[in-house]
Amino acid sequence: MTAKVINGTEMANSVRAEIADCVAELTDRHGVTPGLAVVLAGDDPASMVYVRHKERAAIEARMISQIVTLKAEATEADVLAEIDRLNCDSGIHGILVQLPLPSHIDARTATEAVLPEKDVDGLHPYNKGLLLAGTPRFVPATPAGIQYMLVNSGFDPDGKHVVVCGRSDIVGKPIANLLMQRMPGANATVTVCHTRTKDLASITRQADILIAAIKQPRFITADMVKDGVVVIDVGINRIPAPERKRGSRLVGDVDYESVSQKAAAITPVPGGVGPMTIAMLLRNVLEAACLTVEG
Ligand code: GUN
Repeated sequence: MTAKVINGTEMANSVRAEIADCVAELTDRHGVTPGLAVVLAGDDPASMVYVRHKERAAIEARMISQIVTLKAEATEADVLAEIDRLNCDSGIHGILVQLPLPSHIDARTATEAVLPEKDVDGLHPYNKGLLLAGTPRFVPATPAGIQYMLVNSGFDPDGKHVVVCGRSDIVGKPIANLLMQRMPGANATVTVCHTRTKDLASITRQADILIAAIKQPRFITADMVKDGVVVIDVGINRIPAPERKRGSRLVGDVDYESVSQKAAAITPVPGGVGPMTIAMLLRNVLEAACLTVEG
């Protein structure tokens, strides 16, 4: 079997075009243009690239975009002061604190400082609670993108055994939470595996849908999956590649070459989950702006 490739770039482009139309309508009808602010502290190269992508996508969707950059030496109080300023800015509907933060700044304190109604990352405890309760407001962007990709490529998780590898706050926990809910596009039986899981392969081999979010390059190999599995690869790992001009390349958490021989469908890296994450972030910003009109 050779896997169907789930094209995240294509899907994200069509979602982004729909969002752009909704933004234009919101602006025309209500004079409200959705505004996204991203707080970037420090100089993590990957974060700088991701933030630029988010900004470009927001502008293309006719939103207002603001990047607030702070030096790596900025204090926690500096970051909190910027978040506070953005909380009070009526032109900003969504705030995202790019992670990871420099180690002397507590990520939890920073994400909890964002007003829940502007928390388009879905990381505030209030929004996490809404998701857990089955009444989500802002679903974190990567999990929302994964669900969208599954449903829109014909692999609805309903009744399926989903195995999630990874228990991060941004991906593992919320995707497990989302897909177990009693709601359309969910209703899955979910198993979560992590670094302390014993005999991981015996569990991943049971997956109808396998979600890999472990930050380990090409960790999931063909012997760890069953024939016909649907694989969602969340990993973005840079590995040395002397044959490339820049000397490195991106790979996922899944050994694409071998696993795609057994899988029914698989997301590529790059071009899979990454672009969908950005599209879903924009969807949350649009939603946040719409809530200010309706509310
Ligand atoms: N860093 C990597 N992914 C994310 C994300 O989804 N949200 C935030 N805030 N930081 C990230």
